[in-house]
Amino acid sequence: MSIQTIHVTASRDYDVLIGSGLLKETGKHLRAVHAPCRVAVISDSNVAALYMDTVLASLKEEGFETLPFRFPAGERSKTLDVVSGMLDFIANHHLTRTDLIVALGGGVTGDMAGFAAATYLRGIDYVQIPTTLLAAVDSSVGGKTAVDLRAGKNLVGAFKQPLCVLCDIDTFDTLPEEVFRDGCAECIKYGVLESPSLLKIFSEGTAKEHIADVVAESVRIKADYVAKDEFDTGVRRFLNLGHTIGHAVERTAKYSLMHGHCVAIGMVMISRAGEKLGLTEPGTTDALIRICETNGLPVSCDYSAEALLESALSDKKRRGEQITLILPKKLGACMEHTVPVSELESILRLGKETSV
Ligand SMILES: NC(=O)c1ccc[n+]([C@@H]2O[C@H](COP(=O)([O-])OP(=O)(O)OC[C@H]3O[C@@H](n4cnc5c(N)ncnc54)[C@H](O)[C@@H]3O)[C@@H](O)[C@H]2O)c1
Ligand SMILES: [Zn+2]
Repeated sequence: MSIQTIHVTASRDYDVLIGSGLLKETGKHLRAVHAPCRVAVISDSNVAALYMDTVLASLKEEGFETLPFRFPAGERSKTLDVVSGMLDFIANHHLTRTDLIVALGGGVTGDMAGFAAATYLRGIDYVQIPTTLLAAVDSSVGGKTAVDLRAGKNLVGAFKQPLCVLCDIDTFDTLPEEVFRDGCAECIKYGVLESPSLLKIFSEGTAKEHIADVVAESVRIKADYVAKDEFDTGVRRFLNLGHTIGHAVERTAKYSLMHGHCVAIGMVMISRAGEKLGLTEPGTTDALIRICETNGLPVSCDYSAEALLESALSDKKRRGEQITLILPKKLGACMEHTVPVSELESILRLGKETSV
C-alpha cells in the first residue's frame, strides 16, 4: 500500500506519513530525518506488548541504539511523577541533544513523551508513532504536549513539534472497539468543520474500509489550522467544536466517559442549540445524530443543564467573562459565537431539549 504524506508547516516543519506496515520500517523513516543515535522508545504497557519489539528491531537494523521505557497504560499515568521516572531513565542513559525520543502509543504516551522531549536538556527531538485513531488524527500532530495535575487535566505542558509522525494504520486492528470509536468522534468533528468526504464516509459507516484516507484528510485539516495558528491564540479554536460542552460532560461524568464520546454529545448539543438560536441550518442536528449513531457514538447524556454548567464553570471560566463557542452553520461549515458566560446555561438548556 502506498504511503500518504501530509506536510505540516509550523515553527519547525515536518511530515506525517500514513500507511500500512510502517512500524517495521521505523528505522528507515527515522534515518531519513536523523543520523543514527540513541533512541529512548516510550510506550505504555499495552502497546509495548504488541509493538515494541517490531520498532526496536527496525531501529537497530538502521544503526540506532534503542532504550525501551514502559509505563502502566492509562490516563492515570499522565502525571509529573511518571514523567519524572521517564526523565531519570533518559538522563541515566546519558541521552544528549543529538539523541531522540520516540513516542509509541496513544495520546497519553504522545503527550508524556512529548513533554519529556520538550523539557529534557531544554528540548531534544522526538518522533510520534501514534497507535490510536485519536492520536493519529489529533494528539500526534500540532505540537501540544501535556501532563495532568491533581487540579485538572493537561495543566502543565509545552508546545513542541515532532521531527516526524509515522502512522501505521495496521496498529488500529488491535484497538478495543470503543477506543477506535472514540477517535471517530474527532474525525467526524473535522467533517463537520469542513470536510464533505469525511462526512460521506462516516454517514455510510465505512471508516474502517477507508481508514488511511480518513486519517490523511483529518491530519490535513488539523495541519491547516496548526499552520495558521500554531500557538492556539486564534483560528485553532475551531478545533474545539463540541469540546466546551464535551469537557463539561466529561467532568460531570468524573471521566468515566471517554473524551471522544463526550465530544460527540457536545457537538450534537451545540448544534441543537444553534438551530434553536437560528444560527444553524435546520436539520443539521438530526443529520449529525444519524452520523454519530452510525459510528456507535452517544448523542445525549442524562446530566442536567445545571450540573453541566457547574462543570463548565470550574474550567477556568467566570460568569462575567465572554466565551467563544464553535457551532455548525451546517454540516461542513462552522462559525464562532461569542457570548457572556452567563448565557451558557441557556445554551446548555437549548442543547438538551429534544423538542424544538
Ligand atoms: N496533545 C494534543 O493535542 C492532544 C489532543 C487530543 C488528546 N490528547 C490527549 O490524548 C489522550 C487520549 O489519547 P488516547 O485515547 O489515544 O489514549 P491512550 O493513549 O490512553 O490509549 C487508549 C488505550 O488504548 C490502548 N492502545 C493504544 N494503542 C493501541 C493499539 N494499537 N492496540 C491496542 N491497544 C492500544 C492504550 O494502551 C490505552 O489503554 C488524553 O490524555 C488527551 O488529553 C492530546
Ligand atoms: Zn478532543
